[in-house]
Amino acid sequence: MRPLLDLVAGARPNFMKLAAVVRALGVDSSLDYRIVHTGQHYDPSMTDVFFEELGIPAPAVYLEVGSGSHGAQTARIIERYEAHLLQTPPDGTVVFGDVNSTVACALAAVKLGVPVAHVEAGLRSFDRTMPEEINRLLTDALADLLLVSEPSGVVNLRREGVAEEKVHLVGNVMIDTLLHQLPAARVRATARRLGLEPGRFGLVTLHRPSNVDDDATLAMLLDLLHEIARELPLVFPVHPRTSAAARRAGLGDRLTEDRDRLLCVSPLPYLETLSLLADARVVLTDSGGLQEETTALRVPCLTLRENTERPITVEKGTSRLVGNDPARIRAAIADLRSGTWAAGEEVALWDGRAGERVVACLVAWMQQRGAH
Ligand code: UD1
Repeated sequence: MRPLLDLVAGARPNFMKLAAVVRALGVDSSLDYRIVHTGQHYDPSMTDVFFEELGIPAPAVYLEVGSGSHGAQTARIIERYEAHLLQTPPDGTVVFGDVNSTVACALAAVKLGVPVAHVEAGLRSFDRTMPEEINRLLTDALADLLLVSEPSGVVNLRREGVAEEKVHLVGNVMIDTLLHQLPAARVRATARRLGLEPGRFGLVTLHRPSNVDDDATLAMLLDLLHEIARELPLVFPVHPRTSAAARRAGLGDRLTEDRDRLLCVSPLPYLETLSLLADARVVLTDSGGLQEETTALRVPCLTLRENTERPITVEKGTSRLVGNDPARIRAAIADLRSGTWAAGEEVALWDGRAGERVVACLVAWMQQRGAH
């Protein structure tokens, strides 16, 4: 019998990473797998559309956990995934990224003696106010196999005392999916369909609690976006957390006014987003994934955060950390206008083959553990 792995995904950024590993597993027949969807993200625009576009098979298990406070959501995932593990234990559990589903399923698995592999291990922002940083630290402490996307991750894990043989620098599976889907995305010509000219618009995403959960910060950022949009039209797919925050803060009208310049739309499917990314003059974002995608596509990126767990996007890529400080954001836009933005370099192992390297590590891992 072939070893059986659970591949766990729950929130939007997990799905692009899962897709790359599923594709590579399809080529390697020595492992069986089962997709477990926790249901952390559940709106069709945040999940179903990704499965369809990326050709991911329907989940074998759907835990339907939904939204909640961190404690409630994490606890619900642990409880429901544990029940599934008790019924039909796999030989290993593979978790991705840094969302609540990642740490919850890793914890449920190791407590039942199921070993865990973490894809995108080792990233550190060194900012413990970020929920994702806590998730990253805990998941890596639990994992038996740590698969790393950029060299900083290896350094961080070494510093934390993780045994060298558990750590493998495999590259970036999300960039596998980007490279694989880019031709299909370009055909969409999403910018033109939205009335925007390729190369003459910016793409915005915002969803971090540090940017959207405080009313004054959100108001300031929305005003600033309107200001930038007077010069360069912006398209802004609004995350559900952000639209809810804007409504709560009485800022809903700032998402609807002057739509010719600041075009606020619902969360977009993967291919539409990739199409816009590839054509954008600049991206303003607080997303970890977009920092990496802009680096791969060599599109300038203003990262609206004070720190990043993905330093390679700043050191070699096209990203610059600007926080949510209007002066730094305006200065960055001025640099962009004057053409002084770093062109960026290619990142080693972000080559479209990280999924294959992940699968090779998973196969060796199962052999070492003597799984049947
Ligand atoms: C989560 C991840 C974050 C990731 C982001 C990508 C954690 C701690 N955070 O943040 O790392 O960058 O996903 O999108 O895991 N909501 C909906 N529909 C949905 C899902 C969420 O309306 O399908 C709304 C709900 O009001 C919910 C809120 O968004 O309370 C936040 O959702 P949650 O999954 O808790 O965190 P995200 O902000 O999406």
